[in-house]
Amino acid sequence: MRRAVATGAAAASFLLWQQADSGAGVASASSGRSPRRDGAQPSQPDGQPAKVDRMLRWREKWEAGVTRWHLSYPHPLLKQYDVELLGPVVGREAQSILLPLCGKSVDLGYLARRGHDVVGVEGVGLAIDALLRDWGEELTVPRPHWISEESRPSSIRVRMGRAGWYQKMASEQLGKTETGTPYTTAELLRVVEGDFLQLSPQMLADFGLGQFEPARGATNGTFDAAFDRGALVAVNPADRPQYAEVLTSLICPGGKVLLVAVEHEPFFGPPFSLTHEQVTTLFSDHFEVQLLQREDTLDKEPSWRERGATKFEEVAYLLTKR
Ligand SMILES: C[S@@+](CC[C@H](N)C(=O)[O-])C[C@H]1O[C@@H](n2cnc3c(N)ncnc32)[C@H](O)[C@@H]1O
Repeated sequence: MRRAVATGAAAASFLLWQQADSGAGVASASSGRSPRRDGAQPSQPDGQPAKVDRMLRWREKWEAGVTRWHLSYPHPLLKQYDVELLGPVVGREAQSILLPLCGKSVDLGYLARRGHDVVGVEGVGLAIDALLRDWGEELTVPRPHWISEESRPSSIRVRMGRAGWYQKMASEQLGKTETGTPYTTAELLRVVEGDFLQLSPQMLADFGLGQFEPARGATNGTFDAAFDRGALVAVNPADRPQYAEVLTSLICPGGKVLLVAVEHEPFFGPPFSLTHEQVTTLFSDHFEVQLLQREDTLDKEPSWRERGATKFEEVAYLLTKR
């Protein structure tokens, strides 16, 4: 018998987050104040921390169509560090790959079309609408039978698209298989709609996500690899330890994370500047942290100068879980 998706604090915070997303405004509903968008948790008169709607500012961006981070092509660093992240191409098996805070990134499709089992996590439903609209057809994902209607609000929602319909990505971007044939795998793409910071392996396993364990005949909610671009640098710095904890819990031993950080001075994010030292502090207890490359992209992206940046470096790390 499988247990329900989320219990206790995680369940409660998912419920609160979902109410906020549907416009109920968690903090305003409970305290008369507006939800805070900065991740900080001021005390209430009763001493309880205020509930925070982390997604508010992002929802506003999606609603206004302000998604300047979005690339219409697979991220160059994902292609460049393909072997570091996923191992040698020859003999490579399909892997379970997580994309936290995925937006409508074409990297999801890029990886899924290569036959991998790809799962994105995104907090704004509008972004997933856009992603699956581009992808093709959205399929209905049945609720696992062990999650009752009453407990459902505490859970994540999983949405799924059929990748075979996705025609917009040019075949030269997808590349060729090692035998020279173009990638045409019609794979499914699954996206978890929810706050990444509230996830646990059990919640994902309950939805059949993550690595499949043949001996148990079930998935375990952890992944072989993750691609983090515009994710850790997008969360409020105060939430970084929680983000690192969740990401760590979702990667299997030996699993890898390709992390694309940015380092800039002096404007306030997002994206929030993340130094090598901070990456080490967040992850070195559980991962080997390897700096792959650092590139100043200020000349390629002059808009950072307009925001006051005097340097804007894109820094790639490979994290390997012990
Ligand atoms: C800067 S964008 C990057 C999107 C994507 N990684 C890309 O490279 O195109 C950050 C995305 O994370 C989403 N997001 C922010 N905080 C989140 C959270 N706590 N849980 C889930 N999604 C979140 C936002 O809605 C937004 O789509």
